[in-house]
Amino acid sequence: MNDKMPLLRTENLHKWYGKIHALRGVNIEVYPGEVLALIGDNGAGKSTFVKIISGVERKTSGKIFWKGKETEILSIEQARNLGIETVYQEQALAPQLTVLQNIFLGRPWTKFGPLKVLDNKKMAKAARRVIDELGLNVQVDQEVRFCSGGEQQGVAVARALLFKAGLVILDEPTRALSATGVERILEFIRGLKKQGIAVIIVSHVFPQIFPVTDRFMILSRGEVIAEKRAEETSSEDLTRIVIEKTV
Ligand SMILES: Nc1ncnc2c1ncn2[C@@H]1O[C@H](COP(=O)(O)OP(=O)(O)OP(=O)(O)O)[C@@H](O)[C@H]1O
Ligand SMILES: [Mg+2]
Repeated sequence: MNDKMPLLRTENLHKWYGKIHALRGVNIEVYPGEVLALIGDNGAGKSTFVKIISGVERKTSGKIFWKGKETEILSIEQARNLGIETVYQEQALAPQLTVLQNIFLGRPWTKFGPLKVLDNKKMAKAARRVIDELGLNVQVDQEVRFCSGGEQQGVAVARALLFKAGLVILDEPTRALSATGVERILEFIRGLKKQGIAVIIVSHVFPQIFPVTDRFMILSRGEVIAEKRAEETSSEDLTRIVIEKTV
């Protein structure tokens, strides 16, 4: 995997919130199709890192490289244009909206001209194409609440695909979920990975995400203190590192 160019790489990333030094020289890279988990104690800096990459917060110093090119990420819109999608829990699928409305939620396509008329035909056609590509058995005008759990995850994957996400970021997606909900998130991640999309997942409950993770980075007080590939570690090992802060 390391002979490829990282999709995303940070170099000596620092973030200060006033007097709080939340990130202290973070170097993290993610490769295409890789699932990277960021784990660590409360306040370790995981969400701060994710917010900087998704354009919600600005870095104080350091460099961000996207596909090998140094890039400033100044807004959520810019992150999305690069191909960085962040799935926040509160932004998961809207059950009362249709498959089509969910896919284009927050960024519908409009017809050319000043009136911003929705281009429903074009959206439906594009949505149909990705849905068929994924082999999903859903109608674009079907309300999402009538889709099965697996189909709903499929719709979320379709959205990432349609907007050509290279990287999907999930911050604590399993926090409030039942066992079935967690399984759905894991299926969602597997779906992204199969499409060559990279995933950064932040989670406290790493035994849950262990089955889909390729690599773990352990943060403590704003620094990466350890890095482990899934095949060279275990949930017990990771728990010990997080608690004892030694490798
Ligand atoms: N908007 C903010 N203003 C001031 N301080 C902040 C802000 N956001 C985060 N911090 C501080 O930065 C540090 C890192 O916080 P962050 O939210 O990144 O941690 P985390 O690893 O995501 O923790 P958790 O596991 O609890 O979600 C903490 O000390 C936190 O209090
Ligand atoms: Mg957090």
